[in-house]
Amino acid sequence: MDYSAIKINERRLRRDLEDLGRFGEEPDGGILRPALSDADLKAREWFKGRMREAGLSVREDAVANIIGRLDPPSGAEGLPCIATGSHSDAVLHGGKYDGAAGLCCGLEAIRAIQRSGLPIHCPLELIVFTDEEGGHYAGTFGSRAMFDLLVEGEIYKSRGAGSPFLAQSLERMGKDPAQYARAVRSPSEFRAFLELHIEQGPVLDSLGIPVGVVEGIVAIDRHLIEVKGKAGHAGTTPMRLRDDALVKAAGIITAVNRAVRALGNEIVGTIGEMKVYPGAFNIIPGRVEMTLDLRSMKKPLLKKARGKIREILRSVPGARLTTALSKDGSRMDRRIMELIEESCRRRGISWKRMSSGAGHDAMTFPAQGIPTGMIFIPCGEGKSHCPEESIRWEDAATGAQILADTIVRIAFSAGMKSTLRKTFAR
Ligand code: GLV
Ligand code: MN
Ligand code: MN
Repeated sequence: MDYSAIKINERRLRRDLEDLGRFGEEPDGGILRPALSDADLKAREWFKGRMREAGLSVREDAVANIIGRLDPPSGAEGLPCIATGSHSDAVLHGGKYDGAAGLCCGLEAIRAIQRSGLPIHCPLELIVFTDEEGGHYAGTFGSRAMFDLLVEGEIYKSRGAGSPFLAQSLERMGKDPAQYARAVRSPSEFRAFLELHIEQGPVLDSLGIPVGVVEGIVAIDRHLIEVKGKAGHAGTTPMRLRDDALVKAAGIITAVNRAVRALGNEIVGTIGEMKVYPGAFNIIPGRVEMTLDLRSMKKPLLKKARGKIREILRSVPGARLTTALSKDGSRMDRRIMELIEESCRRRGISWKRMSSGAGHDAMTFPAQGIPTGMIFIPCGEGKSHCPEESIRWEDAATGAQILADTIVRIAFSAGMKSTLRKTFAR
């Protein structure tokens, strides 16, 4: 196979990344683009246009996942596809490349494969998943909906990182949220799934290595903590007679932090959001709601942390914890990891195996029996989920090249071959 025919156009890729980064851009260089917000809807329309220009057919499913597809010449339309993709939404005041890198590199990879004239004989898909970030609830919404993994009523409870509930956002787009199950697909439609993403940590950047080969993604637990106290007048209620929910919450935050630290370096825990009710200068807080995100590659550690945290909450009157979601960690497919490495070796590019502490849509696919892989590219000083998120264009081009090469390798790998040998070249 002549892999030298697969040529990534770095300038075109850079332009796409810059253009996509303008939707929701803020003066400090970050973006405000919660799932299905006006900025996200505009970004999605723009990206659909870019997919169509590249010759992909484009459809949207019942939960607004965008599916771009390139079918091989007639006769192979029904074969399982090799899919790549990521998300267009962003955390509040986040960066321009979390999600966007995977979309633009995925598009560039498909364009390069198409132009190479290599006889790829299975469909290729490029998927923009809805609400990967799930700031207020669960995350990886679109990919979980695709495999019927939504929690009961989730669509009415989840707001992503934005303010309307997902159901309202879908209605605004003319979709019927009650029909969300129509997005469900059979795993047999997929031969493999590959996601390119910025590393979101400092390892690759600090070592000067352009590619990370992801071995696994952490398990993620998301909980909601509610602390009840008694609201009252901030001027007239003596200190000794108060039941201040926020003061109790403050104790919980430090105790949880201490408990997670005590479990060592292989687990992290974050209370990242807090709402104080009623929330005024002159009212003693009567109720506090907080989110707790716990992550580890080791499930027993998560269990231990949950136990400790429940113990802490039991000692605080009025405090309770409910679990919003528990996502299993996932292992990437060994064969796909080897194919990514083979792609790097052939191009003379160094790589490093690593695990992902961030969640990704790619974590949804392995449990469906779909061979899955992830390619990381470095981001400046490992900064992510903040306006300072940055990448080097040449790293994006290298990542897109490895992605394209690996897609082609999967297409031609043993046991995944089909008989059709026509070409995508137009
Ligand atoms: C998504 O970026 C997450 O890891 O929460
Ligand atoms: Mn992401
Ligand atoms: Mn993210």
